[in-house]
Amino acid sequence: MTKKGFFITFEGGDRSGKSTQAKYLADKLLKLKYDIVKTREPGGTSLAEEQRNILLHSNTKFDALTEAYIFASARSSHTEYLNELMKENKIIVCDRFVHSSLAYQGVMRGLGIEFVKEINEKALRGLNPDLTFLIEISEEEFLKRTNNSEIDRIEQDSMKLENFHKLNDAYRKIAELENNFIIINGDGEENDIHEEILEITLNKLEEKGYSKTLK
Ligand code: TYD
Repeated sequence: MTKKGFFITFEGGDRSGKSTQAKYLADKLLKLKYDIVKTREPGGTSLAEEQRNILLHSNTKFDALTEAYIFASARSSHTEYLNELMKENKIIVCDRFVHSSLAYQGVMRGLGIEFVKEINEKALRGLNPDLTFLIEISEEEFLKRTNNSEIDRIEQDSMKLENFHKLNDAYRKIAELENNFIIINGDGEENDIHEEILEITLNKLEEKGYSKTLK
């Protein structure tokens, strides 16, 4: 048995449904008696949750570079906490991680993927996802889902159609560069998508020595 924690992340553009799927997966794994921690970025520690508030809701203006550093700094306290959980063999389900920074700050904001990788390197503290679900939706589905919901500071840009395509292309490119990425079509029924994600996860967990009945 080679357990030393299992780190699952969910990625995708806004309105892709990834937060819903992250929640469904975490809830189901908990029901199956796996030792789960559900978390999110930006956030996951009390400091990073305060930074989340600045990043998403502050009226103070700051530029893309400053934004990228705040995301990386929030990530730093989060990975310190997550590495402790990994040592305890926890299964972590995280809504967004560093690949969001590569897509949003690197591509949508134009800072460049390589540069954003560089400024996140130390903040990652060696932590890499064992499995990443990239949820993709079509333009048609995106347009259906853009109506009448409140939008935050980042979404003021990411909800523009042009940026929807930029983010999709960026995530595709990132997925090609990484091992562990699984692309999921997010256009379908929530429950079908959940079943697909669950099956993949359970197989990977079994490979890693986690079993359903033993914690
Ligand atoms: P999101 O998971 O979409 O939050 P919500 O619960 O409001 O749907 O994440 C918040 C926003 O932060 C989202 O628009 C993407 C953005 N983001 C970045 O730009 N860079 C990052 O590194 C992360 C983690 C998120």
